[in-house]
Amino acid sequence: MSVRYIESKKTFLLQTKSSTYQMKISDYGYLLHLYYGERLEDEDLSYLIQLQDRGFSPNPYEAGNDRTFSLDFLPQEFSSDGSSDYRLSSIEIKNGDGSYAFVGKVAKHQIYSGKYHLAGLPSLWTTEKDTADTLEIWLTDAVTQLTVVLCYCVLEEKDIITRSVRVINQSEDTIYLNRIMSMTMDFMDSDYDFIHFDGRHTMEREWSRNPLACGIQTVGSFRGASSHQHNPFAVLCESAANEDYGRCYGFSFVYSGNFMCKVEKDQYDQTRIVMGIHPKHFSWQMKPGESFTAPEVVLAYSGQGLTHLTHLYHNVYRENLCKSPYAKKERPILINSWEAAYFDFDEEKLLKIAGDAVDMGVELFVLDDGWFGNRNNDNAALGDWDVNTAKLPRGLKGLSDEIHAMGLKFGIWIEPEMVSEDSELYRKHPDWCLQMPRRQPSRGRYQLVLDLSREDVRDYIVTSINGVLGSARIEYVKWDMNRFITDAWSAIAEKEKQGEIYHRYILGLYDIMNRIILTHPEVLFCGCSGGGGRFDPGMLYYQPQIWCSDNTDAVCRLKIQYGTTFVYPVSAMESHVSVCPNHQTGRTVPIKTRGVTAMDGILGYELDSTKMIQEEKQICREQIQSYKKDYALIAEGDYFRLTNPYTFMEYVAWEHVSRDQKEALISLVIMEKEANDAQRCVKAKGLNPGMYYQVEEMEGHFSGQVLMSAGLPVPNGLLQYEAIQYHIRAI
Ligand code: DGJ
Repeated sequence: MSVRYIESKKTFLLQTKSSTYQMKISDYGYLLHLYYGERLEDEDLSYLIQLQDRGFSPNPYEAGNDRTFSLDFLPQEFSSDGSSDYRLSSIEIKNGDGSYAFVGKVAKHQIYSGKYHLAGLPSLWTTEKDTADTLEIWLTDAVTQLTVVLCYCVLEEKDIITRSVRVINQSEDTIYLNRIMSMTMDFMDSDYDFIHFDGRHTMEREWSRNPLACGIQTVGSFRGASSHQHNPFAVLCESAANEDYGRCYGFSFVYSGNFMCKVEKDQYDQTRIVMGIHPKHFSWQMKPGESFTAPEVVLAYSGQGLTHLTHLYHNVYRENLCKSPYAKKERPILINSWEAAYFDFDEEKLLKIAGDAVDMGVELFVLDDGWFGNRNNDNAALGDWDVNTAKLPRGLKGLSDEIHAMGLKFGIWIEPEMVSEDSELYRKHPDWCLQMPRRQPSRGRYQLVLDLSREDVRDYIVTSINGVLGSARIEYVKWDMNRFITDAWSAIAEKEKQGEIYHRYILGLYDIMNRIILTHPEVLFCGCSGGGGRFDPGMLYYQPQIWCSDNTDAVCRLKIQYGTTFVYPVSAMESHVSVCPNHQTGRTVPIKTRGVTAMDGILGYELDSTKMIQEEKQICREQIQSYKKDYALIAEGDYFRLTNPYTFMEYVAWEHVSRDQKEALISLVIMEKEANDAQRCVKAKGLNPGMYYQVEEMEGHFSGQVLMSAGLPVPNGLLQYEAIQYHIRAI
């Protein structure tokens, strides 16, 4: 078993293929963290706990005259609150007597094979191929009887440990859970860099790396979605770590709503990191006997740098996360109508775009926003999911039939979580949106957010969207969300439960996705929130791909995709070739480069194909052929970031390598260009040093060792924003 309890030492030992996690029940019953890192055999690491009398670090009463035991510096698995630990707390409870304390001591534990289940929440699942074992440890407060169950699942072969927490109110009082972190991890040192992914609308997941400084650093979202601004993924790595070297710890939160990740470097140069639902505006009422389940954090450890950490996540997210059968299928090449037509289209125009796209090798036509109600701009009609017959006189069915007759699949855009004030739905049910009493709600893109905490609202959405899906042959759906939540107040919740609305919204979202997406396994769903405003593992549980960003500029995309790849597989990133000058930046980039960049994801097009010249169409045709030929390599191969666009300005390069190392594809885009500049060579990674390869774009044969050590010359003649690809195949 990959999980064991060693009674004589009172230690818990979790073993993955290459990592070890160890904990210990201390004197007095507290659960201490001993170690997470490179795999060790059965050694007892209890010696790492060094007790000492430290001034102003309080001692639990039961320690008596022993002044060396203090929760203020001991490494823990789940910190108590309101007693002697002043560092970041894992929990905040308002007890029935008004006190805020929770002091959890180990009451019992159980170990079983298989994975724990999180009701109503997405989480990793296991297949027969996986060895998975679960450890649950009950921490109970002796006074209130409140219990926190720490859940750990070890996916041994995948080198992954998942964590979650269940709170059970075993007390006799109604209590309020005001903060619950799904994961707390203490390190006895602090020589780490904190890597996180920040941004804004149209510039998501920008890489950020800083050494830990004394005090607390926070990333998170209280926008009601995981957000463009911060992603629920973070890395702590030793300061010398790079792509190929060093200890790196990944923390990925399987949740789509408000989240918080905080790292504290404390007075003794130790580190605590916590991750969970953002406590802002969170207060969960728990009556006696009720329990609360916190979402999952997926942990990975790499002793060989960031690339290996990435591979661990890509592997497990490709195989153990998404429920859609499409997760493992080749995705069709699509053309999307948004940047081609925005709201200004009719059936004839769409059919022309589709007709020209077929000719390029496109396989799926996606009708974006604007096909329903009186949706002629973004002011109106969200919530009214009836086709706009002025634009589409023969309905979705008529259009879909025509599209299919051309040999294409057909897809649509929806935004089910929203309502426009100018809509039949809002006129009929103004109380169905989130808004506070006596206040006008904030608008975002003119729209309001439906109250997904309500069952009647969810039922309406499920019925109307399932109705749309049944009205025509629809093989793809883009599920958008174009504003974040404000005014989180539900017309039907009691006032003591209003602090639950943000989380209940997400539970409601998962409920409707279960009832819409998982009941249509034949449909490929793509997530979207103004591009990448909700790009997280929670959404990837339902939707195998997500529209990476509303920014289609290939040069900006290089950074956006660079950041995204640290944790999310290429098969999750939908990426399109659009027109130039680019609609977001005005930049002009060769069409080849736009294609090479979009091929670093699920390739699609988003332009008016009727306005393309023959030469451009031919380039796209070739792009599609080449992408389809290399699809398995790109979507399932190992991913290597060959450059960092934030620190190396000359070019951006990345590589896909097949699992058997017989094929590789290096893509490179020239960034800052100087005249008569230096000769560069791009060095491959991940090849078999002893294997011989042919490089399609070059003469001769090369060993893997040569390609990785000496590299391939970057042609000097390439101009700024030009791209090149090297197709490498074993001979
Ligand atoms: C935001 C999306 O990211 C765009 O691609 C497009 O679908 C618009 N919404 C439509 O309103």
